[in-house]
Amino acid sequence: MNILAFESTCDETAAAVVQDGRKVLSDAIASQVDMHTIYGGVVPEIASRKHVEAIAGLADKALSDAELTKTDIDAVAVSYAPGLIGAVLVGVNFAKSVALALGVPLIPVHHIRGHIAANYIAHPELEPPFVCLCMSGGNTLIADVRSYTDMEVMGATRDDAAGECFDKAARVLGIGYPGGGPMDQLAQQSKGGVYQLPKAHVDGAELDMSFSGLKTAVVNLAHHAQQTGEKLDEAALARDFTQAVSDELVPRAMKAAREKGYRKLVAAGGVAANSIIRADLERECTHSGIQLYLPPLSLCGDNGAMVGAQGYYEYLDSHTAGSDLNAYATRDLGRG
Ligand code: KG4
Repeated sequence: MNILAFESTCDETAAAVVQDGRKVLSDAIASQVDMHTIYGGVVPEIASRKHVEAIAGLADKALSDAELTKTDIDAVAVSYAPGLIGAVLVGVNFAKSVALALGVPLIPVHHIRGHIAANYIAHPELEPPFVCLCMSGGNTLIADVRSYTDMEVMGATRDDAAGECFDKAARVLGIGYPGGGPMDQLAQQSKGGVYQLPKAHVDGAELDMSFSGLKTAVVNLAHHAQQTGEKLDEAALARDFTQAVSDELVPRAMKAAREKGYRKLVAAGGVAANSIIRADLERECTHSGIQLYLPPLSLCGDNGAMVGAQGYYEYLDSHTAGSDLNAYATRDLGRG
């Protein structure tokens, strides 16, 4: 089954063709990073307009890269939640039109389910059940993935996402946007142990997380240094900050896997590209005898292939939509 899949929830427009959920025939992406870099973050209205400009050309590119024509497409999948509402609407409306024009089913895909499914592409042997640590620019949560389409949030951030925290910390250090990659590189230049950063804990919700205090602490350190003329050890701060993020995420993911008794832990989302978090997950999983599945760097960030992969399993579960499909800025992972 060939699924033409669309992704437009944030600042990446993507279209891909995926066969039977696991084989990527094409994966075309147009990034808007250059545009948003000017502002130091994603400007939602600009994101929507850029999606409108890019999406039709990407659909053609996805088909031609896959060496297919429209008649070879069996269904259309689209990320319909969660995300920047104007941005998501572009993908949803375009996908609706394509499905209607081709006379094929339309499959709504929860964006985070897509991130999880990126691992099905990378690891052909991977099947649920497993626990997934999902960490992206807009969402951070731990999910019990009971089957391809039956999942439940076990814990989540109470405020900012891990990626948002990376981006804002990097912005105040002036090292670029999006901040995760530059922070990762800077952190590798230091052993850290210089800055005391806050640790969050949510009473009675041991798997919930918080990143806003950490973000504010880095912003305050940077502003204080600017005002007093103090020289910051930026590499050490990047290292200590990244370790603090990892310490928020990794022990909770391990706890969730232990609670469920699963021997598989999966990572997903843009922040899963972080070298320190990957190393910490690897060490802890080896220690606990848990098999770790990490997405390759190319599939950590937003892409269309992950939407096509999850779309296949949603289709098998009869999860299709009509032309009244709406876009949602937020939506529970369990509802799909
Ligand atoms: O999954 P993604 O592409 O978008 C969402 O679905 O939100 O994630 C983007 C986020 C950004 O915040 C970016 O800074 C972060 O992933 N990121 C990283 C790294 N590479 C990208 N964070 C930490 N370390 C990295 N190496």
